Amino acid sequence: MDSDENNNSKVSIQTILENSLASLDNGKYGICFPSCVSAMTAVFSLLKVGDHIICGDDIFGGTCNLLRKVFPQFKIDVDFIDMTDTLNVENAIKPNTKLIFYETPTNPTLKVTDIHKIAKIAKSKNLIHVVENTFLTSYFQKPLNLGADIVLYSLTKYMNGHSDVFMGAIVTNSDGLYKQLKLRQDCMGINPSSLDCHLVFQSLKTLPLRMRQHMFNGQRVAEFLDTHSSVQKVLYTGLSSHPQYELSKKQTSGHCGIVSFYIKGSKEESTKFLKSLKLIQIAVSFGGYESIIQLPKYCTSNPVPETRRAKLGINDSLLRLSVGLENVDDLIIDLNQALNSINL
Ligand SMILES: Cc1ncc(COP(=O)(O)O)c(C=O)c1O
Repeated sequence: MDSDENNNSKVSIQTILENSLASLDNGKYGICFPSCVSAMTAVFSLLKVGDHIICGDDIFGGTCNLLRKVFPQFKIDVDFIDMTDTLNVENAIKPNTKLIFYETPTNPTLKVTDIHKIAKIAKSKNLIHVVENTFLTSYFQKPLNLGADIVLYSLTKYMNGHSDVFMGAIVTNSDGLYKQLKLRQDCMGINPSSLDCHLVFQSLKTLPLRMRQHMFNGQRVAEFLDTHSSVQKVLYTGLSSHPQYELSKKQTSGHCGIVSFYIKGSKEESTKFLKSLKLIQIAVSFGGYESIIQLPKYCTSNPVPETRRAKLGINDSLLRLSVGLENVDDLIIDLNQALNSINL
């Protein structure tokens, strides 16, 4: 065996995946973790005692728990703010602020943040700017191109798309951040398994096909729900009624399959509707090939304090549907019969 072959045989599937993720985001470095939450843990541990984080107000409950229950023990303080108005971000910056973190679109109310504007603010104040891109993936949105320092993923969701893996990742162009995060991956023992890396690597090959189909199905479902008399309001970035529709068009090249909507009525009607579904399963998570639905207030947004949930509109009638890759007519038939069963 000559030396080139010998070197090639030493490249691990984890490194192959990390390099692939980096290139999909036009980034220099990728690092994989065994979950998104472990990737976040590595990122937030870049800070020191006395530092401050500005975080989007609408975020996955697990992120909320991590920032409210774990990092304050290390005297790292956090403010949760509405990032749709960048003035709120400027006003929230303190002398000890070190990092800005947000999802765009957010989970579950699909609020959109102007990444380019936040990048300008972050750069002017020397803050680490982290964008969670789990909803849109690198196929529809490239936060590094818009000026973010770190893009973060739950690969568990769309990037893998087959609901059979837990993994997270970050991508960055910064030599310094890469070095620091790689050190944390090694020192904290937060490496993914080779099998999971292999599964995600295989799945990435169909990412464009899957995302285009999620978008097609998501749009059709959102338009259907928007016309149904038992639906009060639909939140979908692909509908012109979405408050940041123009911004979405500007900074992304498409929409995912997450459709949130308010049913008319309250918990009784939401529960009846959920129980009437035949094809769409009740489950947390999202981004897989199969359509799933949940009541965020009682599931993924449950760790968010009630006052903030109420302000965000995460209530008994808000449902979050992850539209899968099934025949969209079958999904609409299922939603229609379940909505009709409410009998308002
Ligand atoms: C937006 C968002 N980010 C991160 C996570 C957590 O991902 P993981 O299970 O890969 O840690 C979730 C889980 O539902 C989520 O909704």
